Amino acid sequence: MGKFYLTTAIDYANGEPHIGHAYEKIGADVIARYRRMRGDDVWFLTGVDEHGQKVAQAAAERGVSPQAFVDEIAARFTRMWERLSISYDRFIRTTEPGHKLGVRALIERIHSLNPDDFYEKSYEGWYCVGCELFKRDDEIVDGKCVLHPTRTLEWTTERNWFFRLTKYQDFLRAHFAAQPEFLSPTTRRNEILALLEQGLEDISITRSRLSWAIPFPLPLSTGEIQGTWVWFDALPNYLTATGFPEPGYEQRWPAQLHVVGKDITRLHAVIWPAMLEAAQLPLPGRVWAHGFVLLSGERFSKSAGVRLDMDEAIDRFGTDALRYFLLREVPFDADGGFSYERFDERYNSDLANSLGNLASRAIAMVEKYFDSIVPAGPRVDLDRADSGDAAEYHAAMDGSQGFLLHDGLKRVMASVARGNEFVQASQPWALAKNPEKRAELESVLAAIVRQLARHAIHLAPFMPAKAQELWVQIGGTGRVETQRFADVDSLDVAGWRVAKGASLFPKPQSPTP
Ligand code: MSP
Repeated sequence: MGKFYLTTAIDYANGEPHIGHAYEKIGADVIARYRRMRGDDVWFLTGVDEHGQKVAQAAAERGVSPQAFVDEIAARFTRMWERLSISYDRFIRTTEPGHKLGVRALIERIHSLNPDDFYEKSYEGWYCVGCELFKRDDEIVDGKCVLHPTRTLEWTTERNWFFRLTKYQDFLRAHFAAQPEFLSPTTRRNEILALLEQGLEDISITRSRLSWAIPFPLPLSTGEIQGTWVWFDALPNYLTATGFPEPGYEQRWPAQLHVVGKDITRLHAVIWPAMLEAAQLPLPGRVWAHGFVLLSGERFSKSAGVRLDMDEAIDRFGTDALRYFLLREVPFDADGGFSYERFDERYNSDLANSLGNLASRAIAMVEKYFDSIVPAGPRVDLDRADSGDAAEYHAAMDGSQGFLLHDGLKRVMASVARGNEFVQASQPWALAKNPEKRAELESVLAAIVRQLARHAIHLAPFMPAKAQELWVQIGGTGRVETQRFADVDSLDVAGWRVAKGASLFPKPQSPTP
């Protein structure tokens, strides 16, 4: 059993969970569930990023203390992840005492191993509170941050602690050369390679007058204690969640995979590994930078009014349908759009008409022709053709070619379509009329139920509840997620008792608005 520690980005606790946060958590959850079904020892971390100017400002706007504010927001996130069946093992909040201790310990460790890595300098620049980053001139258009055009950039002049990132440039280049899979997909890797080529700059890692922060453990020469820059506090969450610096953290650290959005690749692929190297700690195995969910072709934002009500999106067809739609529609290595028209189309064509229909027809025929008991039958062409799809499914899911979850789903749906064609071509209802064709009928229905069992297993990471319903309807026992992919080819469904339940993907009663 391989250890598989995976993480998501921790979301800023300055507002409600939105569809972009959800997309990332669902994607990571699919990978976690997939790994568990491979038999890996999975540990799945998510959480919220609760410090920094952005959060402090949001709390001030509401007229509540930052702590009271983040307490409420954190609860909204955990509620939303529960609704979306996110199977995390640990939810970290950066205001937890253990996290604060861990960040201090990490900074002190860097300071004692590499005292020269921190130095004081006066600095001035444009700070974007939206990004919680200083912006270069080429990232500013019309006086605004390109990513947060509705926010005002803040001209900041102060004396801060700096981290000597430039010292790690050669180390990072060598690491990228030695571990080509460290950062993917390739588009993101190329961006960072270009950045490393261009040359890094040291970064300011403290803020003066920032009270909503972890105090930076080293005072400035003036005696002033500054607040730790929020990213220097947030990135270590992946480490502090393992219990660092308490003994035993090494059992979990390093993480095998960080799943993050493409906008924060540099923080995870440059700054975080440099911090770890400075602390002489092992680096995470991989960083996967997914793309963005766009609404009407735009990056949504609270302030620009482009948004989507998450509860409404879930209520439309249920949690699993939304999970399916997001990952089928928005490629996990690029951007993609969300629209209710596409959601309705995919729900009807992929889930209700294709998968739902295959299941209900097969179950009805086993009930009618075999008294609900699945007959025995040999492997047929359908099984052999499906093996090819299953191999591609795993290639898309296991990281060997990236985490192309949309391709994984595409493979399952291709095999569902093959199942429907097989039913049409073999006409079991016609075979049933001819007693001499009994053996053929047995073979056909056995093959379809076998295929449905495979679908339930392959879809379980994506649609855990629907996969379980399907599993139970075809007579599977126990929890489908306890099945192991390695056993799929030898799965024997003969003798299972099917039981038609409620329609897996019911059509809405009235036309959806
Ligand atoms: N707090 C930082 C992350 C710290 S990780 C140590 C942050 N928070 S965020 O709330 O702005 O974003 C959280 C995650 O959601 C990021 O990975 C980000 O890329 C992702 N997304 C935010 N909007 C998104 C979309 N529209 N689509 C997909 N993911 C997006 O950054």
